[in-house]
Amino acid sequence: MSGSSKSIQEEMKRLALEIEKHDRAYYELDQPVITDAEYDALFRKLQKLEEEYPDLASLHSPTKRVGGKALEQFQKSKHGVPMLSLANALNEEEWFAFDERLHRFLEAPAEKEFEYFAELKFDGLSINLTYENGLLARAATRGDGETGEDVTDNIKTIRSIPLKLKTETPPEKIEIRGEIVLPVKAFLDLNRDQSDRGEKTFANPRNAAAGSLRQLDSKITASRPLTGFFYGVGEVIGFTLPKTISQYEELLSEWGFPVGTQKRICKGAKSMLEFYREIEGIRDSLPYEIDGVVVKLNSFSEQQTAGFIARSPRGMIAFKFPPKKSITLIEDIQVQVGRTGALTPVAIVSPVNVSGVMVKRATLHNQDEIDRKDIRIGDHVVIQRAGDVIPEVVEVLKEKRRGDERRFRIPDLCPVCGATVVRGEGEAVSRCSGRNCIAKLKERIKHFVQKDALNIEGLGDKIVDQWVDEGLVKRLHDLFDLHYDDLISLEGFADKSVRKILNAIDAARSPELYRLIFGLGVRHVGEATAKLLAIRFKSILNLSQATREDLLEVDGIGDEMATSILSFFSNHEHLDELETLLSKIQPIEPKASGKAQIFEGKIFVLTGTLPNLGRSDAEKIIEDHGGKVSGSVSKKTSFVLAGAEAGSKLEKARSLGVPIIDEAGFQELLRGH
Ligand code: IVH
Repeated sequence: MSGSSKSIQEEMKRLALEIEKHDRAYYELDQPVITDAEYDALFRKLQKLEEEYPDLASLHSPTKRVGGKALEQFQKSKHGVPMLSLANALNEEEWFAFDERLHRFLEAPAEKEFEYFAELKFDGLSINLTYENGLLARAATRGDGETGEDVTDNIKTIRSIPLKLKTETPPEKIEIRGEIVLPVKAFLDLNRDQSDRGEKTFANPRNAAAGSLRQLDSKITASRPLTGFFYGVGEVIGFTLPKTISQYEELLSEWGFPVGTQKRICKGAKSMLEFYREIEGIRDSLPYEIDGVVVKLNSFSEQQTAGFIARSPRGMIAFKFPPKKSITLIEDIQVQVGRTGALTPVAIVSPVNVSGVMVKRATLHNQDEIDRKDIRIGDHVVIQRAGDVIPEVVEVLKEKRRGDERRFRIPDLCPVCGATVVRGEGEAVSRCSGRNCIAKLKERIKHFVQKDALNIEGLGDKIVDQWVDEGLVKRLHDLFDLHYDDLISLEGFADKSVRKILNAIDAARSPELYRLIFGLGVRHVGEATAKLLAIRFKSILNLSQATREDLLEVDGIGDEMATSILSFFSNHEHLDELETLLSKIQPIEPKASGKAQIFEGKIFVLTGTLPNLGRSDAEKIIEDHGGKVSGSVSKKTSFVLAGAEAGSKLEKARSLGVPIIDEAGFQELLRGH
């Protein structure tokens, strides 16, 4: 290989490592250290080199994660060792029965307390990853347990899954098993996008994860923020596993896999119950769905002795949470009007307790869903809660019908303002066409003041409804003209609360530009797109004057979004409203190039001599980009920037696991503008 191809290859390797580091920071630690734009720049740089020098490109490059050509169908893939299933315990008796059975089977005295490893039961779909000599060779779904579908291209798009094991001494071959999940927030966002586009929504995060992973077009998978948790092992060749499952999971984590955060080694059956109850208590606050805990004899050799019953290991059990489903009666069906005018049918049900939450309403999504499930007023139905999502009707109990149930149709006129309801061709969603629909206004304002937009603290849904109903707020900018006297006479307000909310409104008069863009509620423009637009256009005025070509030049903005942005800014009412709004608030424009606050919240410690940058240069750069410089290393330190002859700070950083970067790494963090 010539000297120059060697250095090109080295540059590729360096970029790949850098990208993988940021993937980890983003997907596993949830602490991105660079902006999306900077990340994209690194990514494109590597892509470009690979296009220019395809022979030098690595098959395991992170660029392979973006998805490739669509498949006709999935290939079959036989597992090295079959993927089994788990027996369930549905209550405490069944749990104690499991423990007793193991005592009998392993001929252990009654007083012996087994060492159990307890962890979460992730509600996704199981996956089998085969690594050969440390490289991801294949990924397959469970299928019938013997043979699954080859979804390697799709799995490669999931950034939290290592393409290469982080070890110098990988097994010759190992099957690593786990569960692919879609976080609840991503599921909600996905469903919102799907319904905005008039496409089908998913019933729960698990279906959404399955639908996303089983895509013949891996580009679609790449656009869905899937992640996974790994806990299991299949075939192993040329490697000695640790003695226990808990140690094995530590190894998985070292190799670069995401593993569950909640887990415990429990002595005996009783102490396991404490874990179960604790997890049940935090279940709804986890970012992804779980449907129970899995308890496993921690020792692999005990597992082996315990053997199998039917297709399940005798030494493991899934201790499930009670299902979040209940049966109730549909008393009525009403129609809700959303921010974009979308009409959503909602079932008003006889109040029922669904795993601890009283439910009175359940979404029916749209007319097609109602027709498909044949849902009628007066029906007995099964409803279910998925995460924090509004409950939905999963099934009609048709055998309970008496014949007086009534069918429902979305009305032709908006139930709030009386304007005609329209349904675009090929769309599942019907929308109110009224310009001054109060329901739309309320939802627009709620969207405008929410946490990710203008973030007006204390201005909740009920207050927005009240202010609109009272005629105090007719346009977004009316919020900024409210006075003490307008509010003090309102129900629920007193001196202190009025002052507080007026202060909160005042505090929102200088929002970051992207928050304002997001808050305007342009269809298809989510928070991430708003950030891209803010960086590219720097002001609302520029954005409002952007042409289709200007918009399409922004990476991440496609035809549909461009159309929707253009249509928003060609509407005179919107422009008038914006003009008035901008006379009352001053958005903060993103800093000029190179000075984005990419180090905001990051603490750097400098040590040693850097090859090019003087100490004060480095300090200035960090501070200019919103970071802080500190003199000593602690757990709070984000990075140690180390040069030649670095001293004890380096040792300290290593012992605390603080990331250490050199000048090149530092420059890389800064690049991309
Ligand atoms: S151990 C013999 N641990 O639950 C199978 N499974 O209902 C060994 N699952 O097929 C599985 N979280 O897909 C195990 N922490 C966990 C799990 C887990 C979710 C899934 C897995 C399995 C299914 C059985």
